Amino acid sequence: MRTEDASAAPAPVRLADYRPPAWLIESVRLTFDLRPRGTRVTARLALRRNPDGDGGPLRLDGRNLRLVAASVDGAPVSPETDAEGLTLSGTASGAALPDAFVWEAVTEIDPEDNKALEGLYLSRGMFCTQCEAQGFRKITFFPDRPDVMAMYEVRIEADAGSCPALLSNGDLIESGALPKGRHYAVWRDPHPKPCYLFALVAGDLRETRADFTTVEGRQVRLGVWVRPGDEGRTAYAMDSLIRSMRWDERAYGRAYDLDVFNIVAVDDFNMGAMENKGLNIFNAKYVLASPETATDADYARIESIVAHEYFHNWTGNRITCRDWFQLCLKEGLTVFRDQQFTADERSAPVKRIEDVVTLRARQFREDGGPLAHPVRPEEYIEINNFYTATIYEKGAEVIGMLHTLFGPEGYRKALDLYFERHDGQACAIEDFRRCFEDATGRDLTQFARWWSQAGTPEVGVEESWQEDGGRYALIFRQSTPPTPGQPDKAPLVIPVALGLLGANGDDLLPEGTRIVELTEAETAVTFEGLPARPVPSLLRGFSAPVRLIRETSDAERAFLMAHDSDAFNRWEAGRAYAVDVALRMAGGADADPAFLDALDALASDESLDPAFRALALETPGEDELARETFARGTPADPQALHAARDALRRAAAGRMGDALERLHREMTVPGPYSPDAAAAGRRALRNRALGLLVARGAPDDLARAAGQFERADNMSDAFPALAALVHADAPQAAAALAAFHDRWRDDPVVMDKWFAVQATAPADDALGRVRALTEHPLFDWLNPNRFRSLVGAFAAGNPSAFHAADGAGYAFLADWLIRLDAKNPQTTARMAGAFETWGIYDAGRQRLIRDQLERIAAAPGLSRDTGEMVSRMLG
Ligand code: ARG
Ligand code: ZN
Repeated sequence: MRTEDASAAPAPVRLADYRPPAWLIESVRLTFDLRPRGTRVTARLALRRNPDGDGGPLRLDGRNLRLVAASVDGAPVSPETDAEGLTLSGTASGAALPDAFVWEAVTEIDPEDNKALEGLYLSRGMFCTQCEAQGFRKITFFPDRPDVMAMYEVRIEADAGSCPALLSNGDLIESGALPKGRHYAVWRDPHPKPCYLFALVAGDLRETRADFTTVEGRQVRLGVWVRPGDEGRTAYAMDSLIRSMRWDERAYGRAYDLDVFNIVAVDDFNMGAMENKGLNIFNAKYVLASPETATDADYARIESIVAHEYFHNWTGNRITCRDWFQLCLKEGLTVFRDQQFTADERSAPVKRIEDVVTLRARQFREDGGPLAHPVRPEEYIEINNFYTATIYEKGAEVIGMLHTLFGPEGYRKALDLYFERHDGQACAIEDFRRCFEDATGRDLTQFARWWSQAGTPEVGVEESWQEDGGRYALIFRQSTPPTPGQPDKAPLVIPVALGLLGANGDDLLPEGTRIVELTEAETAVTFEGLPARPVPSLLRGFSAPVRLIRETSDAERAFLMAHDSDAFNRWEAGRAYAVDVALRMAGGADADPAFLDALDALASDESLDPAFRALALETPGEDELARETFARGTPADPQALHAARDALRRAAAGRMGDALERLHREMTVPGPYSPDAAAAGRRALRNRALGLLVARGAPDDLARAAGQFERADNMSDAFPALAALVHADAPQAAAALAAFHDRWRDDPVVMDKWFAVQATAPADDALGRVRALTEHPLFDWLNPNRFRSLVGAFAAGNPSAFHAADGAGYAFLADWLIRLDAKNPQTTARMAGAFETWGIYDAGRQRLIRDQLERIAAAPGLSRDTGEMVSRMLG
């Protein structure tokens, strides 16, 4: 028997239709006889009817499985199979199913042919799995839903020569040799888990080992497993893991709960990483780092993803999701936790600025377009399409607002209650919310709209000032624009952190920063007895994920850039000012000298953290400028914005040349490379200066970048220099690219940078160059990292070329999406989001994009992943 992918128009799954499972599983025993083709999986499930279930027949999910044999309590049965699984209504003799029985099934799969990278697949000869969200059903027949939790014992048999390492969840309890050069290992996980947390790895892997003793006294063996040759690049992942484990003990009172914790790096992976119980599987680019191969930004990402996956052990694994609509329960919370960790380990204001930049670039973009959805969606066609910036990043903002509203103590009390009350359970957002209500005594009915209402709220602000009595009032008006399926929006609870600044820049409020809560469509806040009209500093620390709309002046922005005691708002004032100046330049104005003066003052202020100054010197991106243009009522012109942004950078470099040269000379870091935050901050500022100098483009400037590239002994210095040369189309670019290629051709993680830096270069013939790179022997389009580094980087990081007026960029992306969809729907569907902003462009581009979306929609055999994305974008 063989089941095939469904091709009929799929029906949405609805939150409102949730029903408890009809059957529960006591224990799972899996045996894998691993082979590239014809892997045999024997699954033995001890099933029990759920007294709270609907009493129906046994329904098991299964996709692309060959069912070899099945039995109930040892007696063979032949269940009815279909494209999505099988149904068993009775025993072989026709009797009704007993209330408890043992199901056993033997199925066959072909890991080698699995290019969707979901279920069991081969990555460079290594067997590995990815089961979240619904990949387990591609391994064996199973109730593939997170509220069915069971204990697992897993036996793996494989060729001993090609697969010396055999790993699964939990603890290793047995291993040994088998005939014909094979061997086996048995793993047991004592913690009940949903099947999406199952994992298996078998391959030629080398382990870096460390010991960790938990605060509870448990000895844990930590392992980071990589391909032979990569052992020298595991130290930072291990160090990050150890710091994460300590931090979770300190900050949340959460200790690790097994004797083993393993991390494995694989080359072919759709996402960043996966928190499988005791066996985290990572995209190799988020594990491997050495000074020569990884930039400071790579190190920081490794640290935060290692932490994120580790933190899932409590927020995700010990307490998991009842159903996939609750995804933000584990993802939003875990992102918030990894953000706190990075803030503690590095710099809190710098981390907050970086997170807000990402939030706006990805989540505000999503929330403002056809793919907008609530943090807890109410329906989906393909759940893999909902691993979004809204679920993750906005989900984290919602947790952050609870932290702001209740303070660190109230927050900790609620989280303690959550862990105590729900350990071992599969929960919904309501369970989490109730912990906050019970711990703090506050009703969160209105606050809960943050989970159900999509769209980025807009908060308008007006002021009034009365000399007499020093009365100052702020009037806030909130509204949320309509989003697909949600025409009308209700007011939210919006915590606004604010300060008032006096003429000399001092905070006028005794507490410095005050939190006011907006709960109505209109809220007025008044202050009395002020000596003079203050300058307000609003939404300090970006206390809520909203768009603040307020008439302000250049002078006030410059004042806040110079004086705000809140580092985030100091940066924010400069950012908003930069956006304004760039948009005025796109409309024909010259670079505003007052802005350049203010920027220069900030960049040269030695009392400020270099990492902060580097962020202040970042020019707003073209996509941000495009969406801001549209928000102000005009369609975005990508080429005009590109030119304006360039002109702004040239003007800044012209005005600040001396300061930039000094920064580039002085912000060096003595001694051997270290990825610590202080050193990384100095390099970030130095490289920001270099980038602007290269934008100025004098021969000396280009030579400075070429010299840095040649002399660099680490990637953090080498790569920004290469990028500056390539993006400026400097005469030295070709030689630098060739040198980089020759040195790193055998290193996939590094070569992704080589592809990406060219894919994002805004040359006149950018698309031609990208097309040529698709013919490069190292362009392996079935490897998601490589595909993203070229096709994805072009679509997301080269706006002036991607949005070329003739539509060639759009057609190029659509061609590749159609081709990849047949192999890897997940990565295709995700990248289709490059088209989500179609509505902000002129009618011509809108039509060109819609043409391509329609062409994709009509592609024969289109996956349900990509089908759903395209139809939502077409509206
Ligand atoms: N839970 C993983 C994380 O830590 C993401 C895995 C999602 N994978 C997928 N194929 N949808 O964020
Ligand atoms: Zn996660």
